[in-house]
Amino acid sequence: MNPFQTYDARILEIKELTPREKLFTLRFVDPEINKEFTYKPGQFVIVDIRGFGEFPISLCSSPTRTGYFQLCVRRVGRMTKYMHKLKEGDIIGIRGPYGNGFPMEEMEDSNLLLVAGGLGMAPLRSVLWYALDSGKYKQIYLFYGTKSYEDILFRDEIIHLLKHGEAMNCRVKLAYEVESPSCIYLEKGFAPKVCKGVVTDLFRGEELDVENTYALICGPPVMYKFVIKELLDRKLTPGRIYMTLERRMRCGIGKCGHCIVGTSTSIKYICKDGPVFTYWEALSTRGLI
Ligand SMILES: Cc1cc2nc3c(=O)[nH]c(=O)nc-3n(C[C@H](O)[C@H](O)[C@H](O)COP(=O)(O)OP(=O)(O)OC[C@H]3O[C@@H](n4cnc5c(N)ncnc54)[C@H](O)[C@@H]3O)c2cc1C
Ligand code: FES
Repeated sequence: MNPFQTYDARILEIKELTPREKLFTLRFVDPEINKEFTYKPGQFVIVDIRGFGEFPISLCSSPTRTGYFQLCVRRVGRMTKYMHKLKEGDIIGIRGPYGNGFPMEEMEDSNLLLVAGGLGMAPLRSVLWYALDSGKYKQIYLFYGTKSYEDILFRDEIIHLLKHGEAMNCRVKLAYEVESPSCIYLEKGFAPKVCKGVVTDLFRGEELDVENTYALICGPPVMYKFVIKELLDRKLTPGRIYMTLERRMRCGIGKCGHCIVGTSTSIKYICKDGPVFTYWEALSTRGLI
């Protein structure tokens, strides 16, 4: 499989996750490509809507589940609106996977603390599934902040893990900002794992085993500063904090220069050197966060 070539992929299933986000399950039309295609949690593909344009989307499924892959697409502008109009059976172009992804092997035998805000749940779902399927990690924590009940991505999976996660060494906590009967019902059923507030409220009363934990963060830009403060306050070192970052991209392969950040002393291509960076790298690269 040539990662620079675009291949046809068929939409097998479309699921409406929220009023703004749809989950697309895809499979390459060519069975050989389908067999060869693999990726790391945190990597992304470029979606090519023939004759219309291209855009990057994180893989939100896990490479442990073969034969298909999934993309969670929020409708924001021209391309994503078009994608939301597609139907099951339609064919789109896919190239990739691109980017570095999370260092899953390096983190084996450690605890993983996943901190997701809003759409940031998409790439972290890939990590979550990978960690649960592989069984190579000690304890998995997911702290997920969402605006409202309706905005919870992969709601069925999140509720399942709230109920049964502990049996799989997975502890899920959920913070919501807008109160509704459904949220109150969740809070009553799963207190203290569900609360009204923002994602950083979920750190309250939590100690971190800093020698054995990696934190993985993805969410809106405003979230990073506050989450990192919680982690540093608990003495997690910058090298154990991984963040996945988004920028406007074009080529996705380090050629066009569209996604460059930093200054002459430290330049990074988000598409090629990232989109996953440690907080340590962020400290030495201007404009990364
Ligand atoms: C590595 C990477 C992974 C991504 N993963 C996902 C994903 O899993 N799911 C998903 O829904 N989206 C994801 N995105 C964002 C997605 O690529 C954009 O939403 C999409 O390109 C918008 O195209 P559009 O034509 O619909 O919107 P446009 O008309 O191009 O833009 C509409 C609005 O969205 C903003 N916008 C567009 N692209 C970005 C961006 N990259 N970062 C921040 N704001 C942007 C614009 O400033 C504008 O306000 C990812 C982006 C990157 C770089
Ligand atoms: S998107 Fe072209 S160099 Fe990164």
